[in-house]
Amino acid sequence: MKMKAAQISKAGGDFELVEREVPQPGPGQVRVKVEACGICHSDVLVKEGLWPGLQYPRVPGHEIAGRVDAVGDRVPNWNKGQRVGVGWHGGHDFVCDQCRRGDFAMCATRKVTGIDFDGGYAEYVIAPAETLAAIPDDVPAEEAAPFMCAGVTVYNALRHSGARPGDVVAVQGIGGLGHLGVQYARQMGFQTVALGRGKDKEPLARKLGAHHYIDSDVADPVKELQKLGGARVILATAPSGKAISSVVEALGVDGNLLIPAAPNDPLTVSVMPLIMGRRKISGWYSGTARDSQDTLEFSALTGVHPMIEKFPLSRAGEAYQRMHSGKVRFRVVLTMD
Ligand SMILES: NC(=O)c1ccc[n+]([C@@H]2O[C@H](COP(=O)([O-])OP(=O)(O)OC[C@H]3O[C@@H](n4cnc5c(N)ncnc54)[C@H](OP(=O)(O)O)[C@@H]3O)[C@@H](O)[C@H]2O)c1
Ligand SMILES: [Zn+2]
Repeated sequence: MKMKAAQISKAGGDFELVEREVPQPGPGQVRVKVEACGICHSDVLVKEGLWPGLQYPRVPGHEIAGRVDAVGDRVPNWNKGQRVGVGWHGGHDFVCDQCRRGDFAMCATRKVTGIDFDGGYAEYVIAPAETLAAIPDDVPAEEAAPFMCAGVTVYNALRHSGARPGDVVAVQGIGGLGHLGVQYARQMGFQTVALGRGKDKEPLARKLGAHHYIDSDVADPVKELQKLGGARVILATAPSGKAISSVVEALGVDGNLLIPAAPNDPLTVSVMPLIMGRRKISGWYSGTARDSQDTLEFSALTGVHPMIEKFPLSRAGEAYQRMHSGKVRFRVVLTMD
């Protein structure tokens, strides 16, 4: 049996629509029939060859939603037909020190979906069983897909951020991650601030639940956030070291500049503002399958929905450009033709 896939065959290459044999699941693996796959900014790592040791050709895609289609040996807990998602976290070894501590996301030999093995820009994907999250019945596949990376990353970051209900939480960068971050911040009971550039995103940010919108083109986020007492947390999703560095002093005392974004340029920060306000800067790494399932369940419970634009798999190249242009409102999702 054959399937269609959109692959990249060299760093900086274009998407190629190819036919491949449908792969068979090995022990501990399942085959998922993909129904939808989101396009994450991190897919640039495959497209442009920015991941050390990445082997081509590679099918990107780590925001996968579909159904279990075949089950390999030694997979006791998943059955054909179940609705499942697969995210960035592409598996762990269960035996390294971090796994023995129960911190599977920090596994010493963790794999990444769509980087270490082929991902969801395809009709079928093979995934380790421990990477599967169950999708609630009332979440359609095209909405489940963005939760598998964009959603889980910001949901998981915010719930571990130290912010408490009523605290000022700002989300910088209103794209795939950010538009979900604004919704989660609102649903978690934070005073929610959206930090974007340009006026056009304001009505959408407010519709997503932002109590305040700061347009960094015309206002200084530091001054505006300090008027609110300073942010307890700034969730930095804009992939710009320059933009992230510019908001350190918008944090309040004990504030946390929490960064899931992966910019190419470094941060430049003065240490004195960190010391004087006991502020901190920290990174955030997505989450495990269980974190993804929590994200799906919280979203279904509280009515968090991604805003998506759908493209068929055959137009993967165009769909990727749409994400990269920053014009998409707010996540591009590939659907199978
Ligand atoms: N840590 C993790 O586990 C993890 C998981 C997923 C993604 N990521 C990373 O997170 C970042 C965001 O991913 P994404 O998929 O959300 O990307 P995206 O959809 O392209 O959104 C990024 C947003 O940032 C905004 N932006 C860019 N520069 C800005 C600036 N100087 N000031 C304000 N806003 C700015 C863009 O808005 P405009 O251009 O319209 O202004 C865009 O809407 C990427 O670096 C990605 O690789 C990390
Ligand atoms: Zn991602």
